[in-house]
Amino acid sequence: MLFMKEQDLYKKLAKYYDYLYAWKDYKKEAEQIKEEIVKYKKSTGNKLLDMACGTGSHLEHFTDDYECTGIDINSEILEVAKSKGLKASFILGDMTDFDLGTEFDIILCLFSSIGYVKTKENLTKTIECFTKHLKKGGVLIIEPWLTKEIYRAGSPHMTTFDGEKLKIARVNISELKGDISYFEMHYLIAEENKHVIHFVDQHELALFPIELMVSLCQNNGLITHHNKEGLFDNRGLLIGVKE
Ligand SMILES: C[S@@+](CC[C@H](N)C(=O)[O-])C[C@H]1O[C@@H](n2cnc3c(N)ncnc32)[C@H](O)[C@@H]1O
Repeated sequence: MLFMKEQDLYKKLAKYYDYLYAWKDYKKEAEQIKEEIVKYKKSTGNKLLDMACGTGSHLEHFTDDYECTGIDINSEILEVAKSKGLKASFILGDMTDFDLGTEFDIILCLFSSIGYVKTKENLTKTIECFTKHLKKGGVLIIEPWLTKEIYRAGSPHMTTFDGEKLKIARVNISELKGDISYFEMHYLIAEENKHVIHFVDQHELALFPIELMVSLCQNNGLITHHNKEGLFDNRGLLIGVKE
């Protein structure tokens, strides 16, 4: 068994990421995001940044309409994104501290990736960085992680992929450490002509109150809107438009 002492952020698992999330309807989510962009964006350009883009599964559905850039902190996952041949630029970077020297019409931070910044201090720096990279009239769309009120500590979870040549089972119990949700993800991966791998990966995401994210956006001059339903799982969408 391989036990990661620190958050691996899918590094060792990058090549399995898309299989693990094969159930997720990225196309439908991208269509919903496009509706929010049309509703709120006031700037006239089409430059889009997907922060914490992962394997580029949302970007795949934006490249026809927007000039796309993806950033992620994980080089292995970016290699998977790059291998898809998308019309997009990919940059290794950290959302808490990045400076691209350019502005975007749209900045996305989806699938609760914002929770990985973990502290209020990092969240403050992240929202500042996002705002700095947004054009006047540009739109920031964040899909938050759960709040402490709706997070169910102690609940068991399982995700599976059942392909002919690859089987994956991932189980965990959701845990709580202060204001941080903690997951010890146990993977069993069976691949054709290989030995079964048992892999344990730890994830820590802050359960930021939505009011905190709203006030940080407003302090940075964004007009905020909260779509409570969001893309899935009632995670909601926080939308900020730069005045
Ligand atoms: C749940 S995945 C979401 C990936 C992708 N957005 C999607 O919807 O499939 C979280 C992603 O956040 C990235 N990440 C975590 N902390 C980050 C940071 N500080 N800066 C940039 N990316 C980060 C991870 O490497 C991972 O790809």
